[in-house]
Amino acid sequence: MPHLNAARRHLVHFTVNGRMVRAEVENRMLLSDLLRHEIGLTGTHVGCEHGVCGACTVQIDGKPARACLTLAQQIRGSNIRTVEALATDPAVLSPLQAAFRRHHGLQCGFCTPGILMSLDALLRERPDAGRKEIREHLAGHLCRCTGYATIIEAALDAAEEQRKEETPNA
Ligand code: FES
Ligand code: FES
Repeated sequence: MPHLNAARRHLVHFTVNGRMVRAEVENRMLLSDLLRHEIGLTGTHVGCEHGVCGACTVQIDGKPARACLTLAQQIRGSNIRTVEALATDPAVLSPLQAAFRRHHGLQCGFCTPGILMSLDALLRERPDAGRKEIREHLAGHLCRCTGYATIIEAALDAAEEQRKEETPNA
């Protein structure tokens, strides 16, 4: 009879930032570890490792999700986006990233990838999100540098830029 703790491996196929990936993962491997240690996408940060800080937030099929609470074997067939997907050219920031720079929306930057991935998902779905909605959406993100005010201003600015782009003559 196999030992209960025997590490079982699973073959998973998924897409990450538009690239098909095939990986063999152990039962309890976390998505955050798979992304960082096996695929080399270290932009996804890991803080608390138990779903509290939001630093590890990525998008799974367009929705923000905590990579530290997701088992790698759960993402079979999913479409994952990490912070590395935001700037399509390494030399050019995405509009959301540019707004963070304009408003000094980051200090040490540890919380930033998770916040960006959360906001990117929100603004795709709700481009007219206002201050209250943005604040509520970011309620599960902790910034140990406490730069919340500038993060909200950056998000509002990015939302406005996005609306202008979508309706240039409005
Ligand atoms: S590292 Fe995942 S929520 Fe903190
Ligand atoms: S900018 Fe330092 S933790 Fe948020």
